[in-house]
Amino acid sequence: MSFTVAIDGPAASGKGTIGRAVAERFGFAHLDTGLLYRAVGKRVIEGADPVGAARSLGAEDLEAGGLRTAEVAQAASKVAAIPEVRAALLDFQRAFARRAGGAVLDGRDIGTVICPDADVKLYVIASDEVRARRRLKERLARGEDVGLEEVLADLRARDQRDSARATAPLKPAEDAVLLDTTHLGIDEAVARAIGVIEAALGERGGRTVRE
Ligand code: CDP
Repeated sequence: MSFTVAIDGPAASGKGTIGRAVAERFGFAHLDTGLLYRAVGKRVIEGADPVGAARSLGAEDLEAGGLRTAEVAQAASKVAAIPEVRAALLDFQRAFARRAGGAVLDGRDIGTVICPDADVKLYVIASDEVRARRRLKERLARGEDVGLEEVLADLRARDQRDSARATAPLKPAEDAVLLDTTHLGIDEAVARAIGVIEAALGERGGRTVRE
C-alpha cells in the first residue's frame, strides 16, 4: 500500500530536515526533489542544455558533489522555471511517490502538481531572517566565507523566482497543513509533522502502511 507525504515550502524553511526525520520515523522512502533541479542546474553551469540535461538525468548526477552551493541553487531555480525541464522530471517523482511502503517528497510543487492526492500535505514556512540564519549556519559549517545579508538576498531572489513562475509556482495546496517553524526547534517541528501524519494514518483505520 502506498502512502504519500508531500512537504513544500520556501528555501531553507526546514522541509528537508522534517522530510528526512519523518521518513525515518515511519520507515518511508524520502526524496529531496530540490536535488533534481540542483543537478540540472549544475549540468547547465557546466555547459549543458537545460532540457537535455533534465531528460538525461541519472543517478550519477544526483550523487555528484557540489550540489549544495549557492551558485547551483540559483541555477536550479532558473532551470526550474522551464516547463520542459519540469515535465522531464515528473514521471520519476510520481513513481517515487507511489512506491509501496510509503514515501515522503519535499519540494515546491509536490502537494499542488506532483501529488495532488497526497495523503498528507505540509507547507513549511519560517520568517526570512530565521531561514537565512539557518542557511548561514550550514554554509559557514561548510567553510564558506559568507554573511547574513548575502544569504538573505539569495533566499529572497529564489523565493521570488519560484513564486512568480507560470508553471508549478511555489504556493501552498489548498488542503495543506501550514507549519510555521519560525519559533520551533527541529524536534518540535518534527513532532508536529509526525502528529499530522499519525492522524492521517489513523483515518485509515489504524493500519500500518506495510499491511
Ligand atoms: O534547500 P533549499 O530549500 O534551499 O532548495 P531546494 O529544495 O534544494 O531547491 C532548489 C531550487 O529548485 C528551488 O529554489 C526551486 O527553484 C527548485 N525546485 C522546484 O522548482 N521544485 C521542486 N519540487 C523542488 C525544487
